[in-house]
Amino acid sequence: MSQGPFRLEPRVAIVTGAAMGIGFGIARAFVDAGARVLMADLDADALRAAAARLPKEQVGTVVVDVATDGCGEQLVSACLDRFGRLDVLVNNAGIYPQKPMLEMPMAMFDRVWRVNVRGLVDASCAAGRQFIKAGRGGSIINISSIDSLHPSMVGLAAYDCTKGAVNMFTRSLALELALHRVRVNAIAPGGITTEGTKRPFARSGMSPEQMERVMADFARKVPLGRMGVPEDIAWPAVFLASDAAAYITGAVLVVDGGVLLS
Ligand SMILES: NC(=O)c1ccc[n+]([C@@H]2O[C@H](COP(=O)([O-])OP(=O)(O)OC[C@H]3O[C@@H](n4cnc5c(N)ncnc54)[C@H](O)[C@@H]3O)[C@@H](O)[C@H]2O)c1
Repeated sequence: MSQGPFRLEPRVAIVTGAAMGIGFGIARAFVDAGARVLMADLDADALRAAAARLPKEQVGTVVVDVATDGCGEQLVSACLDRFGRLDVLVNNAGIYPQKPMLEMPMAMFDRVWRVNVRGLVDASCAAGRQFIKAGRGGSIINISSIDSLHPSMVGLAAYDCTKGAVNMFTRSLALELALHRVRVNAIAPGGITTEGTKRPFARSGMSPEQMERVMADFARKVPLGRMGVPEDIAWPAVFLASDAAAYITGAVLVVDGGVLLS
């Protein structure tokens, strides 16, 4: 199947947080576009189950907590061991605990920062070094959020500031690595229905019907009339990883069904 400049074969990508949600959607779309993908996640059981849903010759897995020291080197060496090359890094792993800032223990703030920013920076630096060594250029895609541009609700101040940092790091690293033909871009999703966004409702004891009603209320506020699904983020990620985006670097692509317009 030809997809012209959107085809990712023979590229190899690392996707963090790939066991579910947006990360799994990206891994699946990359595989459909011809890439081979190292799926990384801290949830070993969910990761195994997710990888089993994709063609085994095109995927590998590594269990890693991106908040740990040395996670970047661990990701890159697992990828080289499995596939022998690296072309794309998707920094998707992220957490969004909801708690008003004045009630948030600093340990929780530190964890959000370590996962959403420090892990992404560590992985980007390790991938950047590998891209330069291989001399073929490369692409880094950071999953930010529309909350990096406008707060959506009370309880996400810690999260929102990490995503603001992701946008600025994306632009600064894009400038630093352009000389090496390494492109660095971000995607800022709006509300996407995932395991993670359903979790707080499930914890509150809501029935599936109640959850459906709350989601339908959210959807009515989206100009395009529906919540996003992981594929809405996955195909723009394929685009940014591909030659179709060869002249795009330092961009923050908003993918939100028009929410920021309203
Ligand atoms: N879903 C949305 O509405 C939405 C909106 C904007 C941005 N985002 C961003 O998209 C990304 C994915 O969100 P999602 O809704 O798919 O989340 P999710 O909770 O459904 O899935 C996240 C995955 O990341 C993994 N993960 C979490 N912490 C990790 C760590 N320290 N190391 C390795 N893996 C880890 C989890 O195990 C899980 O498999 C996040 O960066 C999030 O901030 C999501």
